[in-house]
Amino acid sequence: MSPATKSASKSAPKSVPKKAAAQSPQPKATTPPADGIHPGSLLSITQLSLEEVSNILALAERLAGEPLSKHATLLENRKLALLFYESSTRTRTSFELAAKSLGAMTTLVSDKSSSIEKGESLKDTGLTLRALGAECIILRHNASGSPYLLAKHTGLPVLNAGDGMHEHPSQALLDLRTILSRLGKKQAVTETTLDGITVCITGDILHSRVARSNALLLPRLGAKVILCGPQQLLPPEAVDLSPGITLERDFDKALQQSQVAMMLRIQKERLAGMQIDLADYQKQYQLNEDRYFKHAPNAVVMHPGPMIRGLEITADIADGPSSAIEEQVRNGLAIRMALLARALNGGAA
Ligand code: MLT
Repeated sequence: MSPATKSASKSAPKSVPKKAAAQSPQPKATTPPADGIHPGSLLSITQLSLEEVSNILALAERLAGEPLSKHATLLENRKLALLFYESSTRTRTSFELAAKSLGAMTTLVSDKSSSIEKGESLKDTGLTLRALGAECIILRHNASGSPYLLAKHTGLPVLNAGDGMHEHPSQALLDLRTILSRLGKKQAVTETTLDGITVCITGDILHSRVARSNALLLPRLGAKVILCGPQQLLPPEAVDLSPGITLERDFDKALQQSQVAMMLRIQKERLAGMQIDLADYQKQYQLNEDRYFKHAPNAVVMHPGPMIRGLEITADIADGPSSAIEEQVRNGLAIRMALLARALNGGAA
């Protein structure tokens, strides 16, 4: 365990609500970041009120819709650091391109080519970046809770770009933007915006920070969330994540009820000795044409990427007309522009 991992797990947040809360239909209250955390930070999706979610979505909509020249100097000369301890394509590139399209200067620090390799702790790395003038840090780390640690020690706005198996709040926001636009709903959200909508999230729920952030957000807008997967990858306790969540082991049954099918990758890097029968998994949980047209012919198909084509999803579905997967990627750019602007504007979007 690295020094960063040790201290980060100590401060890992407890965002799984108690069982009693799961029985109440009330939306989960927001949990604002602790004292000493910069208000521009986004550490967990639960820290945002629905009004703040709406403001971020509105800003993303404006930034995505206007010519680049209109916002090319919004963050001119501001310095942002991307601190990545895990591989990433979409999240890292979209944060970087978002920053650059707002005129900011960016630097990328990865665990492979920095003093992190020599054992430098997350805290010291953060303090070094701050001393070099970074005004905001975008962090991806394999330890749940590490963004809290970094935000606490640096006092800088920290954007959680995925922390272990905990959360991926910017992904939940870009997924929400995608769902709203595919379903023809307004981007100003309330507790009833997704009334009557069921989203099934299928696959490796256990290791997925994407599933967790979505499961913590979507029921607050009235959506029903079905978590679907085999016992090994979906423990029964997952139902306690938030009110509005149910578990279903049978993928066909889950699909029959859903307007949105969100597929997940099996996170081989986090399986830690767990043996999965991939042929059986594929048979039971793959989203393929047969299953799709039989059970959910109108459902919007989503996947946070990276996809393992032929395992959790087939190419015909991933590339078909119901797939919103590329739209999710494009929405990532808009959402991350909004989050960066918010971070450097004291938390106001
Ligand atoms: C993540 O970083 O969590 C990804 O977007 C999903 C995955 O790695 O499968």
